[in-house]
Parts: sequence; structure tokens; C-alpha cells
Amino acid sequence: MASFVIIIWIWSMTSTIEVTTIFYQHSIFLRHKNPAHDNGTSPFFSSVVATAQACINKCHNQLSCESLVYDTISFKCSLFEGKNVKDEISSNQVLYEVVKKAVLRDISDYAKYLCNGNSPGYFYNESVPVCYKIDSQPRSMTDAKLFCGESGGHLLRIDTEIKQKFVENLNLETTSSVSKYRIDGKYNGTNWTFSNDQAITQFYWYPGEPSREQSSSRSVGLKVAYSGKWDDIRPYGSHGCICEKDIKFY
Ligand SMILES: *[C@@H]1O[C@H](CO)[C@@H](O)[C@H](O)[C@H]1NC(C)=O
Ligand SMILES: *[C@@H]1O[C@H](CO)[C@@H](O)[C@H](O)[C@H]1NC(C)=O
Ligand SMILES: *[C@@H]1O[C@H](CO)[C@@H](O)[C@H](O)[C@H]1NC(C)=O
Ligand SMILES: *[C@@H]1O[C@H](CO)[C@@H](O)[C@H](O)[C@H]1NC(C)=O
Repeated sequence: MASFVIIIWIWSMTSTIEVTTIFYQHSIFLRHKNPAHDNGTSPFFSSVVATAQACINKCHNQLSCESLVYDTISFKCSLFEGKNVKDEISSNQVLYEVVKKAVLRDISDYAKYLCNGNSPGYFYNESVPVCYKIDSQPRSMTDAKLFCGESGGHLLRIDTEIKQKFVENLNLETTSSVSKYRIDGKYNGTNWTFSNDQAITQFYWYPGEPSREQSSSRSVGLKVAYSGKWDDIRPYGSHGCICEKDIKFY
């Protein structure tokens, strides 16, 4: 009778590894006691590396790697195809199984994957490039910021000429409740700034706008009838919004 303790948890990686959006299921096998199950599948790759993390990185970089065993005494890192690792797992060893591995053809697929892999509604336009989502549910500025934030984004920041051209080509639609779409931008009494406090230096107002800059606080929207040019709108007004997610390749 095989007797071993299995501790399993899903480890979602943070910081530098986060962008790979790869999740490993980490299992610790304490003393596998049935050698009958050890029929000697050999790793397709093995080497000595200093840390389990370095071994994980090796597995990550090898598309065919589906599981790995790292020995904390000998520092041996063994990579396997398949998850049915037959090596005996001792208490010094940790086994990681790849639960999900993104196999992507090229950088553009990778960008698309980062853009909408976990966030339905987002699209990636690689000629800008921009990862964006248009939503026509009416929201105040605060609610729109929360809405975009839920998917790891923020209101669309038009900080380049090409992004402005992009929104001019978007063909935004008027609905029964929405005729303007929020983007990032707010007047703070002296200057227009993005929500990260960066001052906006290049403006694309529709002729005659902003019409009420002197009044209290104003924010920025795209009025459908203005074909992508800017309009100053009330922060509390209910408008659609365009979210943007920053795509970072590490
Ligand atoms: C190893 O075990 C697997 C399943 O446990 C079996 O399918 C395979 O035939 C075995 N290989 C050898 C060489 O015994
Ligand atoms: C991407 O943006 C460019 C620039 O605005 C535009 O010409 C092109 O049609 C867009 N592509 C898609 C697939 O929307
Ligand atoms: C803020 O606005 C003033 C004019 O209202 C301008 O002179 C100044 O350069 C602006 N500051 C920034 C950081 O853009
Ligand atoms: C408004 O924004 C500008 C530019 O970022 C900044 O210099 C200024 O201190 C801000 N004013 C207020 C009242 O927050």
C-alpha cells in the first residue's frame, strides 16, 4: 500500500513571474514508500541549479516540460514531459506540475493573450499598440475607474498621437443611454491630469471645447458626434467608458 502525504496548493505567481500567466500546481510528496511505482521514467533534461525557483524557470522556458522534480540536497533539477513522474520522490524533493502553460506562436499572440486571456471584452490592436475595452453601460467617473480597475486596467490614456488617431477610427456607438465615452483625464483646478497624476500635455479637443474648464472639476470624454475628439464632461455624469490595460513584456 502506498503511503505518502500530498500537500497541494495553487501558487499564483507574483511580480516578475506574473506576466507569464503560468500557474504551477505545487505538490509536495513526503517519502514515496512504494518503489513498485518507481519504474524509472527519465527526465528529458537535468542539471544542477541553485534554487527551486531556477528550476521552475527552466521548466517554464522548455515548452515540453510538464513537471519537474527539484532535489533540495543535491540541487538537481529534473524536467519531465508528462505529469506521470515515476521517479521516487523523497522528502528532500519537491515536485511541481504545470497546470497551465501558454503556448504561443509569437510576440503578437503573447500580447493578445496578456490582453484578453483573462479579461473578456478586451481587444488588442497591435498597430497602436493598445489593449482596450469599450463599455456602454452608463457610469460616473468613479464607477468607471473601478470598472476598469477590476480587470487590471484604467481609463484609456490618450498620450500619443497614434492613440488619438486610433479612437478617431473606433466608430463609437450611441445607445439609448449613452452618447459619450469616458477616457482618462480630469481638470484639477489648474491643469488637466491623467489618473496617475501625470499632466496631460497634448490635447485633442473638438473645436470650442473644453467649454466649461473654469467651472469646478471636469473630466474627459469622447462624444460620439465629435468622431473621437475630446469633450469636457462632468465626473458625476453617466457615460460609457473605454478601459485600457497596460501590456508589459518582461
Ligand atoms: C511504468 O508505469 C506505467 C504506468 O504506471 C506503465 O504504463 C509502463 O509500462 C511502466 N513502464 C515500465 C518500463 O515498467
Ligand atoms: C487598429 O488601429 C489602427 C489605427 O487606428 C486601425 O487603422 C486599424 O483598423 C485597427 N485594427 C483593428 C483590427 O481594429
Ligand atoms: C499647468 O497649467 C499652467 C497654465 O494653466 C501651465 O503654465 C503649466 O505649464 C501647467 N503645468 C503642467 C505640469 O503642465
Ligand atoms: C494639478 O496638476 C498639476 C500638474 O500635475 C500640478 O502641478 C498641480 O499641483 C495640481 N494642482 C492641484 C490643485 O492638485
